[in-house]
Amino acid sequence: MLIHNNERFIINNEFAKEVARGLNDKQKQISPKFFYDKKGSRLFEEICMQPEYYLNRIESQILKNSVDEILKIIGGQEISVIELGNGNSLKTRILLGPFLAKLKVVTYFPIDVSLKMLKKSIGDLFREYANLQIYGICSDYVSGLVKINEFMKLKSKIPNKKLIIFLGSTIGNFDPKEAMNFLHSIARFVRKDDLLLIGIDLEKDKSILDRAYNDKKGITAKFNFNVLARINRELEGEFNISNFEHKSFYNIHKHRIEMHLESKLDQQVRIGAIEKMFYFKKGETIHTENSYKYSLPRLNRLVKKAGFQVIRNFTDPEQQYTVILLKKVSNATKS
Ligand code: AVJ
Repeated sequence: MLIHNNERFIINNEFAKEVARGLNDKQKQISPKFFYDKKGSRLFEEICMQPEYYLNRIESQILKNSVDEILKIIGGQEISVIELGNGNSLKTRILLGPFLAKLKVVTYFPIDVSLKMLKKSIGDLFREYANLQIYGICSDYVSGLVKINEFMKLKSKIPNKKLIIFLGSTIGNFDPKEAMNFLHSIARFVRKDDLLLIGIDLEKDKSILDRAYNDKKGITAKFNFNVLARINRELEGEFNISNFEHKSFYNIHKHRIEMHLESKLDQQVRIGAIEKMFYFKKGETIHTENSYKYSLPRLNRLVKKAGFQVIRNFTDPEQQYTVILLKKVSNATKS
């Protein structure tokens, strides 16, 4: 399967393989990581501007209100800020601006699997903050952390103290066990005075959650459909998108938003790059996303299990969302 991309050809094997596997499962599924091609990333930014989707707005507000206190907890004169997935780095600026104003040395390490995204956000930040040292790491998160540790040993100018940030409720895409394992693997590569800052959506009234993932303008629906459009574009798929319906609801028992694409009729769809036909019954769904929501006690238990302790819990007055600041439990895993 060849993608024409600025005169170059890229073979997107991972996408093809995972789609082939996921559409063969009993409950058909496609990983939410495939939402974010260029179009999908733009649609997600548009979701964030919808009045019903409160997550990023509240998170930014919490960050603005807590940046001074975070600075106090950092102490000292320098920090290495490591961001897991650098998204639009708009929120990162809320922290980096005040950090640069108050500290002597600030180094920023965005880690992202997309080189394109990395280059763009680094370029923007570089123009904006002349005195910010930036080292973009194109890698998955855990190997990125390992690389940064090695790098810090080589370069004496880089602040040793790390603040790892993981914002936007991205951790909600993991199920709780995966989230715990993920945090646990991070714990292996941080020192006892390093800090971890995580933004996560809190459990709340089902009607508010249902609305946040079913905005009136239908942007979330477009975002969901885009994964089928992407299969058509990149994998020679023959989906007729109007034969599917966007379904998104809060599953109270599993504490998660589920997004699905539901087939409106019995149909078969060919995907050329996989050389296969897939069958859909009327009412059958492709599960495209889980977005887990936490209560504060469940969140506390999860981070403790992973080897962290909560230093501060920053929330909005209505407790819709939380940004937690964590430190490694000193006798957890040795680093
Ligand atoms: C980027 C994973 C945090 O789960 O709320 C938004 C993605 N999906 N609307 C979320 C998303 C539908 C979002 N995260």
